[in-house]
Amino acid sequence: MRIDIITVLPDLLTSWFGESILDRARKKGVVDVQVHDLRTWTLDKHRRVDDYPFGGGAGMVMQVEPIDRAIAALKTERVYDEVIYMSPDGQLLDQPLANHLSTKGNLILLCGHYKGVDERVRQHLVTREVSIGDYVLTGGELAAAVLCDAVIRLLPGVIGDETSALSDSFQDGLVAPPAYTRPAEYKGWQVPDVLLSGHEARIDEWRHAQALERTRQRRPGLLPPEGDGPVG
Ligand code: ADE
Repeated sequence: MRIDIITVLPDLLTSWFGESILDRARKKGVVDVQVHDLRTWTLDKHRRVDDYPFGGGAGMVMQVEPIDRAIAALKTERVYDEVIYMSPDGQLLDQPLANHLSTKGNLILLCGHYKGVDERVRQHLVTREVSIGDYVLTGGELAAAVLCDAVIRLLPGVIGDETSALSDSFQDGLVAPPAYTRPAEYKGWQVPDVLLSGHEARIDEWRHAQALERTRQRRPGLLPPEGDGPVG
């Protein structure tokens, strides 16, 4: 998989990808993340990428031309499945969307700043807009990093245990069950007996019941409405 990120703060993302687990994925050749400075494509001698909004008002707007030139330059190199604009009013990133994007070959992520991008970017250049939550960040970079993390860790070989991405919270529509490790008793705090029993079927059953109960308590919105039949 290849991900190209267009940003006015390339250093922020380069250091993030250089340090995280995603670096391992890059070294293994599972993913190639390239970070591009939007200013490379400005024709303005001061390398400006934003301007005042038509009609007045506070804040600057990112101009369409450098963004168009950046995307066009990338598209001369390869075909992209999606051009994604990170925006607080986009589609909320959730596990199904991360799963879907992890099946793609080439993605462009565009990070906004200031008051956002000229609307013509959204109308003509972007195929999808994604938000990481209902709050406003100073720019799309952290959101792009979050999206990359959620997507790349799903690629085969990125996290050690192949099955563990599948048993994540949300993968089966439930939050994850409790996990314990040694010691079996600490300050009198006991690990549930069933996990020490070695009885695989009973352990699976217990984990499913716990996941269901936790989901009911913490994230009832994930469960189908009452009367739609049992989960799992
Ligand atoms: N840019 C600013 N806030 C954002 C958010 N919540 N999600 C995605 N991109 C953003």
